[in-house]
Amino acid sequence: MVDLKDVNKTLKAFNDIVNTKKHNPFDKKGSLKVGVDLGTSSIVLAILDEENNPVYGSFEFAEVVRDGLVVNYIEAVQIVTRLVQEAEEVLGVELTEAATAVPPGTLGNDYKVVSNVLESAGLTVTTVVDEPSAAACLLNLDKGAVIDVGGGTTGISIIENFKAVETMDEPTGGTHMSLVLAGYHKVSVKEAELIKRDREQEKTTFMIIKPVVDKMADITKQFLSEYPVEPLFVVGGASYFDEFAAVFSKYLGKDVKRPDYPQFVTPIGIAIASKQ
Ligand SMILES: Nc1ncnc2c1ncn2[C@@H]1O[C@H](COP(=O)(O)OP(=O)(O)OP(=O)(O)O)[C@@H](O)[C@H]1O
Ligand SMILES: [Mg+2]
Repeated sequence: MVDLKDVNKTLKAFNDIVNTKKHNPFDKKGSLKVGVDLGTSSIVLAILDEENNPVYGSFEFAEVVRDGLVVNYIEAVQIVTRLVQEAEEVLGVELTEAATAVPPGTLGNDYKVVSNVLESAGLTVTTVVDEPSAAACLLNLDKGAVIDVGGGTTGISIIENFKAVETMDEPTGGTHMSLVLAGYHKVSVKEAELIKRDREQEKTTFMIIKPVVDKMADITKQFLSEYPVEPLFVVGGASYFDEFAAVFSKYLGKDVKRPDYPQFVTPIGIAIASKQ
């Protein structure tokens, strides 16, 4: 049974750190767990102590990855280097090892490139996990499904024994919400991104982007008709809206839970997986 209370506590602590740029107390003699998530819309650094308590976290918006592929290697390395250096300054310790993640099914060179980015930034890669398994790790989910609604895609993964065993990816994500908003308000996609994140406009925004959420829910329903598992969790930055999980629940006729600060579930899960 997954208890989101503790998960949400961890997520809130992480989000507070990201916003204040201050670290939480930690034992300088102990070891730290470091995770780097190279996403389509941002690169996130997550650092935990041995008990998986958040110690430090930061991110930069970046468009260096598309559909799980690194499309701007140099910039990706620069950003990871910058995030690691800042973390080292704040924490007063050197970071040498980290875990990272790839979308399920990433093979060969595409798989290697993700590790190479971290290695070029001076980190030894301890583990490369797949993204839904990382999310399942933080959620402590041994059986069920993780629906990850990121920037470019919606990924649905069936979890067994804490690992993703079946996955489908559909190219509808938060970017499509921004495109719909940009069209509605007749503004640039950049401006639409800001409107999308403005909590004061959330009710109206959600009404405008609801067809995109319906499409995501429909894709999920079709996939889950083949794999009728429960419980269901939705994660990823694009699921931030208050009503998001409820729309999914109604569409699927099943309970769908969304942790708080859903964009940090995978990065924290990657850090947890770094030493296991
Ligand atoms: N507060 C918010 N409200 C609404 N949408 C948000 C919010 N914060 C982030 N997003 C959206 O979430 C998406 C990014 O989510 P996330 O950080 O999970 O993706 P990613 O890991 O970078 O991408 P992917 O998983 O597709 O590779 C973007 O489309 C972004 O606009
Ligand atoms: Mg992601």
